Amino acid sequence: DPGDAEKGGYDHFMMKEMMEQPKAMRDAITGRCAEAGAFFSGLHLDEEMMKHINRIQIVACGTAFHAGMVGKYYFEKFARISVEMEPASEYRYKNPIVDKNTLLIVISQSGETADTLAAIRLAKDKGAWVLAITNVVGSSIARESHDVIYTNAGPEIAVASTKAYVTQVGCMLLLASYLGQLNEKLGKKDAVRVCNGLAKTPELIEMVLDTQEKIRKFADANHEIHDLFYMGRGLDYYTCLEGSLKLKEISYIHSEAFAAGELKHGPIALIEDGTIVVAVCTQEHVFEKMLSNIKEVKARGAYVLAIVQESHEEIGSEVDEVWVIPKMDDDITPIPTVVYLQLMAYYLAVARECDVDKPKNLAKSVTVE
Ligand code: G6P
Repeated sequence: DPGDAEKGGYDHFMMKEMMEQPKAMRDAITGRCAEAGAFFSGLHLDEEMMKHINRIQIVACGTAFHAGMVGKYYFEKFARISVEMEPASEYRYKNPIVDKNTLLIVISQSGETADTLAAIRLAKDKGAWVLAITNVVGSSIARESHDVIYTNAGPEIAVASTKAYVTQVGCMLLLASYLGQLNEKLGKKDAVRVCNGLAKTPELIEMVLDTQEKIRKFADANHEIHDLFYMGRGLDYYTCLEGSLKLKEISYIHSEAFAAGELKHGPIALIEDGTIVVAVCTQEHVFEKMLSNIKEVKARGAYVLAIVQESHEEIGSEVDEVWVIPKMDDDITPIPTVVYLQLMAYYLAVARECDVDKPKNLAKSVTVE
């Protein structure tokens, strides 16, 4: 295969790109953390402009949409601004409420997604300030937005987005902390804590990447499954959505992600003997709630794989399998945790002999409707 040389010795671009995540994170953070916290040189959006912003909207598609959901959580937590979030394909056809006091944040790996571009044009027409977070320098979305933050993940070839996603999440956290400072809602101490947490992510991702053998074994043992469920609360819920999308995209296994509290409102009806449930439990303030949800699915025969911070390894007595991330700030966990879910999707797809880099029916960049 003439493309083999570009895969850097790996079987697939997706694996190469997952392995590049520590570097991608480093490149996304570098130059954006000062002594007093996050900052973006060259951004026009400043303290004065922020005074007039009374509405933030986030618009994106696919994986970038999931990064947006994490972003919404961060903006609300750190900048105390309420955020509306919509897939670009919904936003553009619903006459959204937008004016000159609106900040529209769009996220796009390629910078070429047709729906996202249309959303930008619509919001600009109505006077919004548009800030794009994209991976491709000089892309259409970069050119048409008022402000751009580049994710700096490097070229992403595999259809399933991995390194672009973690850098999008990193940029959202930096931006939320920056806006929180402009807004005077986030103190210097907390702003510095965010930066310190982010600085550790390359190493944290590395640790997850080092556990691949265990993930490959899990995939080899379970590749004949028909469904996989993911549940989590808060930030973990968004990580679940992204994990579930990754799995569908490349392994064609049906999967669903739900907010664990919604379990009893429907999804629990689908749990049978042996159904695999991935319970992502990295958020301290809802850990006990997750434990109850785990007991509920266990009682219906589920095989539960839990992902927890090291400090909760004792969960092993309640579940069938535990994957651990080191102890860290709860706001940082989406970055290393999603790497577990990426690897799980990858090894399940490989075990099912799927075309990992070029899944059927999907395109890397959707430039037409
Ligand atoms: C396609 C890709 C996805 C991607 C989505 C949005 O569906 O297959 O991986 O998340 O488009 O792309 P963008 O380039 O705007 O992030």
